[in-house]
Amino acid sequence: MTHTRTSNAFADSTTHQAYRDGPLPSYAAHEYDAVAASLPSPHAEDVIEQCFEVRFRYPVFFTRDLFAPTNQVLREVLTSERNEKPKLLAVADRGLLEHHTGLEPKLRDYAETHELQLIGPVLQLPGGELVKQTAEGVDRVLEAIHQGGIDRHSYVLAIGGGAILDAVGYAAAIAHRGVRLIRIPTTVLSQNDSGVGVKNAINAFGKKNFLGTFTPPYAVLNDLNFLDTLPEREWRSGIAEAIKVALIKDRSFFIALQDSAPRLLARDKNAMQRLVVRCAQLHLNHIASGDPFEKGSARPLDFGHWAAHRLEFLTDYRLRHGEAVAIGIALDTIYSRLAGFLSPDDCACILDLLRAFAFDLWVSELGAHLENQTHPRSVLRGLEEFREHLGGELTVTLLREIGTGLEVHEMDLSLVRRSIEELRGSALLHEDRALSATA
Ligand SMILES: NC(=O)c1ccc[n+]([C@@H]2O[C@H](COP(=O)([O-])OP(=O)(O)OC[C@H]3O[C@@H](n4cnc5c(N)ncnc54)[C@H](O)[C@@H]3O)[C@@H](O)[C@H]2O)c1
Ligand SMILES: [Zn+2]
Repeated sequence: MTHTRTSNAFADSTTHQAYRDGPLPSYAAHEYDAVAASLPSPHAEDVIEQCFEVRFRYPVFFTRDLFAPTNQVLREVLTSERNEKPKLLAVADRGLLEHHTGLEPKLRDYAETHELQLIGPVLQLPGGELVKQTAEGVDRVLEAIHQGGIDRHSYVLAIGGGAILDAVGYAAAIAHRGVRLIRIPTTVLSQNDSGVGVKNAINAFGKKNFLGTFTPPYAVLNDLNFLDTLPEREWRSGIAEAIKVALIKDRSFFIALQDSAPRLLARDKNAMQRLVVRCAQLHLNHIASGDPFEKGSARPLDFGHWAAHRLEFLTDYRLRHGEAVAIGIALDTIYSRLAGFLSPDDCACILDLLRAFAFDLWVSELGAHLENQTHPRSVLRGLEEFREHLGGELTVTLLREIGTGLEVHEMDLSLVRRSIEELRGSALLHEDRALSATA
């Protein structure tokens, strides 16, 4: 086989030049055969090797009161390419708007002050997993993009939790093959993890994130003030992703989380800001360091996620993503110890920290149908779904020690079952202790 770069007839630079310099020559129908015959004949085995690289760059800002008229962050992002009166469509999480009723007028005033063209009313979508469960939310964003004449030089602002960002991000990625997306994450989890990365998705066929793309955002604007109104469950839920990234990447971050647990639980904003920034940074470093579009089989940032995604589905999304991740981390931590990779001390420290953040490490769905890994209600089916989602060989990240992950390509099902039984046992023990403490 001949690998040809520019010598191939199809890639002949002079032929290309002639076409580029003027309109395509026009031929009468009967002349086509003669023209085709005059071209050098290609060899069937010729290959034109296409190769190019695309560089991605996007800023992740940390600010407060993003839409205050004096806050320049959004204006600067929107005018960085010197476009006059940039056009934008805003889509917001209804659950967020219930707590921030003044957000739309504030955004409108901001747009007026800074000469931005805000198209139509803010499009409101239901927050939480519901928006990812059907294509309805995505369709509504696509329609608004179409009606508002949003093009590849305009902007979609997605304001909300990770679910809204995923759904709006997917719509923005497929409209016109990609319009600019500015993410404004409003939960702990989306500010420290999901909102700063390159993925979007909705669920389909009972599978988490089945439809989606890898599309880096134009910018991410994290406003810490949004976190003030988070229900307690959402506030804690995002901490699970910070524990996850600390466990696989950064022991000192894990220790900082242990130290700051009481402050984080008391909703100390400065402690949360430090957590969000460090977690986002580790996440971003990871994306930039290797395989941003996950072409390989390894996905260390999904430590604990094979079970987490499955449990979200099995509990009909009663569990928040972060809560499911906490259980997934506990499970794979115990497995790492049982498999002889992780020391018992490290294992105990990790479980203690998860419990310190009041994560419940047991749900009944975890213990169902463990004898049959293909049963539609068995958590064990999550391993095959995880492999299928990644493609290629199963790759699961486990722990060697706190701060260092390790990849395996096989999970011993009897050890997974033992890990689950251990979680069941300690959940019962903690329940008993809690009962006797209140008796
Ligand atoms: N794309 C990725 O890389 C990635 C990574 C991790 C998680 N995710 C996805 O993120 C989703 C979870 O996101 P999440 O944890 O941010 O929760 P969420 O988006 O499900 O939101 C949780 C709830 O909080 C409400 N809410 C949002 N902001 C609020 C605020 N400031 N004040 C009060 N209420 C507010 C929402 O309306 C919703 O009811 C899951 O679907 C998960 O799969 C995606
Ligand atoms: Zn996650």
